[in-house]
Amino acid sequence: MSSSPAATSAVPTAPFVVVANRLPVDRIQLEDGSTDWRTSPGGLVTALQPVMRKNHGAWVGWHGAADEELEPFVDAGIQLMPVALSSQEVEEYYEGFSNATLWPLYHDVVAHPEFHREWWDSYVTVNQRFADLTATVAEQGAVVWVQDYQLQLVPQMLRAQRPDLKIGFFLHIPFPPTELYQQLPWRNQILEGLLGADLVGFQLPGGAQNFLRLVRQRLQYPTHRERISMPGGRTVTARAYPISIDTQGMADLANAPATVARAEEIRRDLGDPKYVFLGVDRLDYTKGLPERVQAFGELVSDGTIDPEEAVFVQVATPSRERVDHYRRLRDDIDRLVGRFNGDIGRIGRPPITYLHSSYPKEEMAALYRAADVMVVTPLRDGMNLVAKEYVACRTDEDGALVLSEFAGAAKELRQAYLVNPYDIDGMKAQLLQAMNDSPRSKIRRMRMLRRQVFENDIDRWATLFLNDLGSPASAARAG
Ligand code: G6P
Repeated sequence: MSSSPAATSAVPTAPFVVVANRLPVDRIQLEDGSTDWRTSPGGLVTALQPVMRKNHGAWVGWHGAADEELEPFVDAGIQLMPVALSSQEVEEYYEGFSNATLWPLYHDVVAHPEFHREWWDSYVTVNQRFADLTATVAEQGAVVWVQDYQLQLVPQMLRAQRPDLKIGFFLHIPFPPTELYQQLPWRNQILEGLLGADLVGFQLPGGAQNFLRLVRQRLQYPTHRERISMPGGRTVTARAYPISIDTQGMADLANAPATVARAEEIRRDLGDPKYVFLGVDRLDYTKGLPERVQAFGELVSDGTIDPEEAVFVQVATPSRERVDHYRRLRDDIDRLVGRFNGDIGRIGRPPITYLHSSYPKEEMAALYRAADVMVVTPLRDGMNLVAKEYVACRTDEDGALVLSEFAGAAKELRQAYLVNPYDIDGMKAQLLQAMNDSPRSKIRRMRMLRRQVFENDIDRWATLFLNDLGSPASAARAG
């Protein structure tokens, strides 16, 4: 980490800067009562850690608590630059505009998006704060990579102050069809915000096309294929970069003796059933949890699946718990699972084991190993990395992946048992098919899925994006 000679304060500067709503660390409580930081298990930080280390990168983000100002600090070799949010901003920018306006709107309005002008004002203020801090951190000519829907105005705000920077943006969630996007009262401002970048990345080509179409229709900027000609002669590229996981790292974890032993223990604890079904999601209404519970519950209650033979384990990680839709979903799922287990369960053997909790990735790898059928059935999902993690962990080439057509991952994982999660009967049929398929067919499918996730891992994703951005960071990384 170098300190710019021109800098008047002690703010460290860097040639490569990642900007994301969250810092890549979680605060943990130590035994002596003090607190420390631990690198988050997320894929993004895993992917970017080598680039960050080699290029003395900095990461600008929120540390997750309200009304707390933190000084910059270093964790795992990465310079972290905390952005403070007041409790009102957490309510209006994070829970409000990001997660009760944009999140449902961008996920096909599976929940009703709320539009409030004060939430928008807060979104602008907070995006400006991220842009201002980034402008002081980025060295002359630095590469800045802005992440996700919470920060769509940052590229433009940053360019206004620092035209010398190379700016990339990546949207981790779907970019919606134009008809839905048009509902947004601030639709033009957000398009202009994104166009501050040199390269705007999406999960799927469809998202990039929706964006290009809106830019033509709403802003009348000429486009040619993936390129947009901006007034003043600048060009912006919009293209798909499907995100992935650290495939080898996940496979190694799945093969570790402790994981193998834990997977066996999990099956024993579940009563050694013939089939274990598994779902792993953030507790979010986009994930299609009620539909999934309904499908499995009906298979048991109508006698198609024998609860002596099969169990369903659903892990639901707590998320955005103060947002109304999430609170209601939690109650709905509790009720639904309780009803099915009450109706069809026996003492000591609930057909559905529901865990509202988050687990370390070692435990996740053991669960993936223990599951015969992985059920990933979101109503809409930008990518879904759980599907890819399951495939990476099936080093035995066994196991079956049931996957929603509406997850971005379905475009790549064509050999999964694909389902329309709105079609409960169709989903029941595919759950049975995945459970009863011949070992030969399952292995054939799993091999192809594995080839896909090994060839297209997170490393390749970051390299492709940074190369297209013309970033020297990518070259340094390959060396
Ligand atoms: C999705 C979003 C991320 C977000 C994550 C967790 O994956 O694309 O930007 O960080 O959910 O949500 P949270 O609101 O807890 O950050």
